[in-house]
Amino acid sequence: MGVKIMEKLWGGRFKKNINKEMEEFISSLSFDKKLVKYDLLGSIAHAQMLGKCKIITKEEKDKIVEGLKQILKEVQEGKVKIITGEAEDIHSWVENKLKEKIGIVAGKLHIARSRNDQIALDERMYLKEEVLKTQDLLKDLQKSLLSSAQKHLGIIMPGYTHLQHAQPFLFSHHLMAYFYMFERDKGRMQDLYKRIDVLPLGSAALTGTSFPIDREFVASQLGFKQISENSLDAVSDRDFILEFLSTSAILMMHLSRLGEELVLWSSQEFNFIELDDSFCTGSSIMPQKKNPDAAELIRGKTGRVYGNLINLLTTMKALPLAYNHDMQEDKEPLFDTISTLERSLFLMSKMIETMQVNKEKMERSTKGDFSTATELADYLVKKDLSFREAHKLVGSIVIYCLKNKRNLEDLTLSELKSFHKSFNKKTLEILKPQSAIEAKDSFGGTSLKRVEKSIQKAKKILKKNTN
Ligand code: ARG
Repeated sequence: MGVKIMEKLWGGRFKKNINKEMEEFISSLSFDKKLVKYDLLGSIAHAQMLGKCKIITKEEKDKIVEGLKQILKEVQEGKVKIITGEAEDIHSWVENKLKEKIGIVAGKLHIARSRNDQIALDERMYLKEEVLKTQDLLKDLQKSLLSSAQKHLGIIMPGYTHLQHAQPFLFSHHLMAYFYMFERDKGRMQDLYKRIDVLPLGSAALTGTSFPIDREFVASQLGFKQISENSLDAVSDRDFILEFLSTSAILMMHLSRLGEELVLWSSQEFNFIELDDSFCTGSSIMPQKKNPDAAELIRGKTGRVYGNLINLLTTMKALPLAYNHDMQEDKEPLFDTISTLERSLFLMSKMIETMQVNKEKMERSTKGDFSTATELADYLVKKDLSFREAHKLVGSIVIYCLKNKRNLEDLTLSELKSFHKSFNKKTLEILKPQSAIEAKDSFGGTSLKRVEKSIQKAKKILKKNTN
C-alpha cells in the first residue's frame, strides 16, 4: 500500500498523498487482474498503431511492444504475480511494470488513450472469449441430453401439469425439451456476441482524440468486426455486459428447472433416476443418505446469477454520461456469473451423461393414473360427440373407477359399453399408455417416430452450429 502520488497515473495535479482507506476503497486490482492478458494485448495493438501512424517513433514502439510482450510472458508463466495494493487497477499495474522494464518511454503508451476506453476494450475482449466458452459448454450439455434421449428411446413416463399426472409420454421427449431450451440460449449468446464484437478503443476519455490514429488497424489486430460509432457511447456503454447477464439469467433458469427435476426424480417417491455417486454427497449423521447436491446447488446458484443482473442494472440506472467510477462495479457480478455458469453447465452435462434411468418405475407410474382419459374423450369425439359431451362422459367414468377402485385401463368392455354404445374392443387398446403415445403423431408430438425424427434433426442442428 501507499503508492506515492507521483506514481499514480493521475498524480500530477495533487499536492497530498491519497488517504489509505480511500486508496483501498477505490482499488479494483484484486479483481480486475483477471483482465491482465487483454490489457496487455490491447496495449500491444495500441502501441503498434501509434508506431504505424508515426505518433511515436519506431524505436519507441519497438521498446514498448517488447516490454509488454515480456510482461505477458512473465504473467503467463507465473513468474510475476499481481499483488493487491501494488497499483490502483490493472491499467496502472501494467504501466508501472512497463516503466520498471523500459523506463520513461513507457509513458508514451497512453497517448490517444484513456482508461475509460481501455477498460471497455479489456472487458469486451474477455467477454468475447467467455461467450465462446459458454457456447461450447452449452453444446456439450446438448450432446449429453441428445445421447441420453437416444439411449433411453422408448421409455415411457408420466407427463405432468400442476405436478399431477397429465398424459403419458416418452422420457426422451422430456429430455429433448431441454435440448431446445438450451438451443435458444445458444442463439441468444450468438446474437449478443455481435454487439460485444465492437472496438471501443480510440474513443479516449469521451470525445475521441486529436491524434491521427487508425482504429481499423487496431480492430483488425485484435479481431474486432466493428468499430464503435460514437466515442461518448463507447465509454458509457455496459449494455454488452447486461445482455450477457440477462441471457445467463435465463440460461440459469433453464438449468435450475432441470436441476429441480433431477432432485425430484431421484427422490424415493419418484425413484425415476439414480444420479452417479460422483455428483452426490452423504450425510454426516444419517449413514444411508445420498443427496443430489450438484443439482440442488445449480438450482440454488441461480439466485446469485439473477442478483448479478439486478446489481449491474441498478448500478447503471440513471448514470449520467460518460464514464463514472460506479462502473467499476460491473466486474465482480460479471466474473461471478461466468464462473457460476460455466461450472453449472459442466456439472449438469456430466450428471445427465452418468445418470441411471429406472425404466420399470417410470412405466409403472403411468398405471392407474387416469392419464389416458383424454384418449377416451378423443375417441368419442371421433364418433361424433362434441368435445364437451365427451369430456363430461369420461369424467363420469373416472368417478365410477374411483368409487369402485378400478383402473381406467382395466375396465372391461361391458363396463365401458354401459357408458356409451360406441365403445368397442379397439377402445381397450387406446387406453394403454403406449397407444396414447403413438397416437401423438402431430408435428412436435411424443410418438416414437416424431421423437426419433426430432433427435435426428437435433443432431443436424449441433453439426451446423459453428459459433
Ligand atoms: N478501474 C476502472 C474501472 O474498472 C478503470 C477506468 C478508470 N477510469 C477513471 N477515469 N477513473 O472502471
